[in-house]
Amino acid sequence: MYSTKLFTTLFFSLAFLQTSFGADPLFHFCSNSGNFTAQSPYETNLKTVINSLIYKTPSTGFGVSSVGQYQNQKAYGLVLCRGDVSASECKTCVSEATQEILNRCPYNKGGIIWYDYCMFKYLDNDFFGKIDNTNKFYMWNLRNVSEPAAFNYKTKELLSQLAHKAYVDPKLYATGEVKLEKLSETLYGLTQCTRDLSSVDCKKCLDDAIEELPNCCDGKEGGRVVGGSCNFRYEIYPFVKQ
Ligand SMILES: *[C@@H]1O[C@H](CO)[C@@H](O)[C@H](O)[C@H]1NC(C)=O
Ligand SMILES: *[C@@H]1O[C@H](CO)[C@@H](O)[C@H](O)[C@H]1NC(C)=O
Repeated sequence: MYSTKLFTTLFFSLAFLQTSFGADPLFHFCSNSGNFTAQSPYETNLKTVINSLIYKTPSTGFGVSSVGQYQNQKAYGLVLCRGDVSASECKTCVSEATQEILNRCPYNKGGIIWYDYCMFKYLDNDFFGKIDNTNKFYMWNLRNVSEPAAFNYKTKELLSQLAHKAYVDPKLYATGEVKLEKLSETLYGLTQCTRDLSSVDCKKCLDDAIEELPNCCDGKEGGRVVGGSCNFRYEIYPFVKQ
């Protein structure tokens, strides 16, 4: 049912993942763009990129950096923190993410890792400003809703509204909620893009992700489609700070 690129993850305890200190990564990919060697110029450049991102990202929640003069030695890195996290949470997450991906993809020239609070991507070529259609995964809550048709409809409607709200926002980020009358519950949603994208590409990225709702989260109480350029999440409990 799923291609191998669209890895799926089941998760039972969202609340735990979200609040635990030093939370585990949600997912990662190592790129297939080859290896670098220890003490190579690429390694030096990558470390400079990482230090620069740890330093400059937390204040705004987004950063890009590239270091190196020569084509095959140049390293590119990007960090995005979730729109509601504080500078210190962002910094903690970025520090952990940059270390963890290097452990998980040793000597790999590229990789991407996601946490609840941040994502980090690096590569040996210029990926800034382009929609990432390669790195993507789904998560969903195992619990089924009682009225899937109505719930799916509301979910798509809310996320589409939030895609519309995000792409005109300077942070390319939006959250919102809607009351589910029949179910006497509230549905909470979040949409966010990396800020190297144009506003138009942000909208396109989110719309494409929302199109995947039936594959990802049909009738599920919560779900996410998470990519290298944008992501959405919905839950029937509040998961962002106000
Ligand atoms: C890269 O390094 C890994 C781990 O050391 C190794 O398994 C892999 O074969 C290497 N890939 C290339 C393309 O050299
Ligand atoms: C949810 O629905 C699916 C499909 O009908 C079913 O296979 C699954 O067991 C249900 N999950 C729970 C937790 O009831």
